[in-house]
Order: sequence, then structure tokens, then C-alpha cells
Amino acid sequence: MGHPRVDAIAQEARDAVAAAGSSAELESLRVRVLGRAGALTQLLRSLGSLPPEERPLVGAAANEAKRELEALLASRLAEALEAERRRRREHARPDLTLPGRRPPRGSVHPLVRVRDEIIAIFMGLGFSVAEGPEIESDYHNFEALNIPRDHPARDMQDTFYLGGERGGGAAPPREEADTLLLRTHTSPVQIRTMRVQRPPVRVICPGRVYRRDADITHSPMFHQVEGLAVDRDVSMADLKGTLALFAHEMFGPGSKIRFRPSFFPFTEPSAEVDVLCFLCAGQGCRVCKQSGWLEILGSGMVHPHVLENVGYDPEEVTGWAFGMGVERIAMLKYGIDDIRLFFENDLRFLRQFA
Ligand code: PHE
Repeated sequence: MGHPRVDAIAQEARDAVAAAGSSAELESLRVRVLGRAGALTQLLRSLGSLPPEERPLVGAAANEAKRELEALLASRLAEALEAERRRRREHARPDLTLPGRRPPRGSVHPLVRVRDEIIAIFMGLGFSVAEGPEIESDYHNFEALNIPRDHPARDMQDTFYLGGERGGGAAPPREEADTLLLRTHTSPVQIRTMRVQRPPVRVICPGRVYRRDADITHSPMFHQVEGLAVDRDVSMADLKGTLALFAHEMFGPGSKIRFRPSFFPFTEPSAEVDVLCFLCAGQGCRVCKQSGWLEILGSGMVHPHVLENVGYDPEEVTGWAFGMGVERIAMLKYGIDDIRLFFENDLRFLRQFA
């Protein structure tokens, strides 16, 4: 039924439809093939110029091709539109196989980390944690600890007193309803613990302390961990053994400690404890200031006056105590040379401990 001219036009149109990739392409193809300027339309228009016997043949063939192409285009367009809709829907649907976006996660602050490490070491040795208030009475912070009235630590220059002129220093009162201050060390927790507990006592007391001091190694607020052990026959050898074990755990198996005679009003005898510089192994370096040793804490045998102040009998029991600065230990351990870095909370600093 075909006609060579019509067949050629139809075949070209079929090929173009097969090659079209989108509904937009098919739409413009429909206009080109079946529109007014299209080859088929032109052919039908020019039937009059053909020889009379050819007219019905060409006309019928052209009309048939036109219907065929109309149907073909309509069905391909419907398919393309459906495919495009499907693709759009798939795009809008969340991809459940994508890994989730994690919310930013914080990390443990280096001071908390070091404090917890200290606590864990002593808990492993049978100590328990005791805490006391940061706002403390003159009695607990000084008086009961055998710190004399004229001790420089009691000076307004060193201690934050609360409540104005009462802390002026003229005649510090004795009672608990005393002048209030921000505790300058964790040693008052010794007093609070012993007043409510009979020996044996084995506690560590972590907490914030306050002193009027600020430079690259001193902060007006910093952290200490106090240790206290009281029992029958507790000796300085026990103190040394315990601290050697602590240094071993904290600074590594090669660590060594040494005692240097010192003075604290609440211990007798007293010693400052150094740890062998773990950066240079005692050779001498910038951090240990060429000495080979790093001072890490103060300690001593609990003064008999302190034991008496809490109602213990110094003839019956003895004890030792120590106090260390968490910032100092952390600075040594991580090689940090400015204490203010701990409190600025610059994420670039904190993330290094993640
Ligand atoms: N309280 C002392 C200080 O802050 C440290 C210390 C505690 C010393 C216990 C001896 C015994 O410096």
C-alpha cells in the first residue's frame, strides 16, 4: 500500500522518533514531522501537481503514514513522560542507604581527663572520693589545718574572702560560722572527712580551688586532688610507696620519684615530691629547666594538731596527705606551656584531646 516517496519520509520520521530521548525532543519532533511545514503535510498539499493517476495512491499512503506516526509519537511521548515522572519521584525520595550525618560530638576536656585518671588510679588502690564546698569557712580552710593567723596564705593578697571587711585579717574568728572564703586548697576536705569518719580513712578529694594569682602558670581558679590516709601505723614509707605507684601509672613505667624536705603547717614532716622528667629521662631539658626533675605535689605526715582538731588521738593513729594540681600535671603530661589554654575553650585546642 506504500509509496516510495511516502515510505522514505515515514522511515526517516520513525528513526528520528527512535533516537529521541526526552518528552521535549518528541514534542518538537511531532511539530517537525506532522506540523504545517512537515514533509508529509507539504506532500499532501502538493497532490494537485502530481499526475492524476498517482494522486490517490500518494494521498492514501501519506494519510496512512500520518496516522501511524501520530500514534507512534503519542505512545512514545506517553512513555517518556511516565519515565520522567518516575525519575523525578525517585529523586525526591530520601536515599535510606546514605550514611547519616553525625551531629558534631564534643570530647572530654583535658583537665577532666587528667582528673579522672588520677581518681581512677587511687580508686584502684582502695581510696574513695570525698568532696567539700568551694565556699569554705576560715576554720576549715585555715584554722583546723594548723595554719597560723599570720600565715601569708591568709593575706587578702592571696585569698578571695567573701563578705567584705570581716576578712580583713585583724582577728580571724575560730568558730565554724566564720568568715567565708573561696577555699585556697582541697585540704579542708580532710577536716570535713575526718570529722564524720573514724579511722581507717582513705580518700581522694578532687575539686576547684581559688587563689588571687594570674599568669601563664597560675589561674585564679584551678583544680587540685587531695589524698588522705589515716590508720594505725601509717608511715612515710607508705606515702612514698603509694606516690611511686601513682607516678608509675600516670607517667609511665620508667618513672621515678624523689622527696624533698619542705614545709606545710598541716603536715610534719613535709615533703615536696618530684617526678623524674619524662621528657628527657633526667638528662635535663627546657621543661624541667635542666634539673632532670619535675615538681608534682606537696605532701607529708598529718600534723598531730590536725588529728587532735578532728578528735583523733595522735598517739593511736597516724596519717599522711598530699595535694596535687591537676593543671600542673596536665601541662607536664601534654607539654602545655600556658595554663589559660585550659579555660579559653578554643576548639582547635580542645579537639587535640578528642
Ligand atoms: N594544700 C597544699 C597546697 O595547696 C598541698 C598539700 C596537701 C600539702 C596535703 C601537704 C599535704 O599547696
